[in-house]
Amino acid sequence: MQKTVVNSWNEWDPLKHVIVGRADDCHIPPEEPALDAKVPEDSDMRGQWGRRPQETIDRANELLDNFASILESRGIRVDRPTPIDHSKPAMTPDFRTESQFGCMPPRDVLLTVGSEMLEATMSYRCRWFEYLNYRPLMQQYFEHDPNFRHESAPKPRLTDADYHPDYLSDKIGVEKRLKWTAEKFFVTTEEEPLFDAADVLRFGRDLVVQHGFTTNLKGIEWLRRHFPDHRVHTVNFPGDPYPIHIDATFTPLRPGLILNNPQRRLPEEQRKMYRDNDWEIVDAAQPAHNTPPPLCYSSTWLSMNVLVLDPKTVCVEKSEVYQAEQMDKLGMEVVEVELRDAYAFGGGLHCCTADVFREGTCEDYFP
Ligand code: NVA
Repeated sequence: MQKTVVNSWNEWDPLKHVIVGRADDCHIPPEEPALDAKVPEDSDMRGQWGRRPQETIDRANELLDNFASILESRGIRVDRPTPIDHSKPAMTPDFRTESQFGCMPPRDVLLTVGSEMLEATMSYRCRWFEYLNYRPLMQQYFEHDPNFRHESAPKPRLTDADYHPDYLSDKIGVEKRLKWTAEKFFVTTEEEPLFDAADVLRFGRDLVVQHGFTTNLKGIEWLRRHFPDHRVHTVNFPGDPYPIHIDATFTPLRPGLILNNPQRRLPEEQRKMYRDNDWEIVDAAQPAHNTPPPLCYSSTWLSMNVLVLDPKTVCVEKSEVYQAEQMDKLGMEVVEVELRDAYAFGGGLHCCTADVFREGTCEDYFP
């Protein structure tokens, strides 16, 4: 039996143990405020809900299993979640929604910081119970690693007070959305702390957190108080009309180098700490596709949702030829992984994983 140790401080140190999601029983959940705000007005997702077609589940599982095998063949240990019944309604004394989401993607739910794995509050009602898919693994890590800290952020109430009613329309238009997001007027209110783990990037002592639809300022303040030995930075990407989850927008590849989505550039005034410490922020290559695949929540920028295996090696989706070419020019060895047919289940190669162990310690990259 391999020794289990939970330890990961950043997005690039050599990866040795990881969780890869499963597509089993994934659902398109019914309408609800924060979820609808993310679905583009011309998307084929509008007005649909129910269990995803079985053939798409099978295909996504084939790709996820294959990704797990590629990682294992490179000596990386892979764990998988245990799906709960996602057809059951999510119901608390405060809300009810008719189905759940799935056990994809793990990166949205689990934030690993050192020896801690923190279950995020989440901000969609349909994802309130998603942590249950990972509880068997959390119990296993708790059993085998005496230093593992299993934490859960305060469960939010997710009443209507958590959402701005202005966003409850399917006729807002991209222009108004861009104006609102530039003004930092997002669908979530400041009623209570809310965050999704995928809004957080780890840079050793520094945590960089996107303020947007799925993470509010109280959520960021909660993280600041929860990690008192870290510096927590709030970032915004005003060019994004649907700002959720930072990992198709800002992608650190190794110390000193970050890819930034050219349509969602980090504002000048938020670049100081990188500039002062000689970090380079380069525009990511264009996606290879003009549209996302069918029934997909995400944008075509999943092209830059890559999984870094170590500072010289990166997994890139097989069809994303421009992104792979750019990685090559940046001196990275590219591992091609086919995943596009699983994008609809919640994201790309970074999204569908969650770190358990990377070598290395907590370093200060921005002294
Ligand atoms: N904001 C993202 C989510 C990606 C994980 C998008 O571009 O769709």
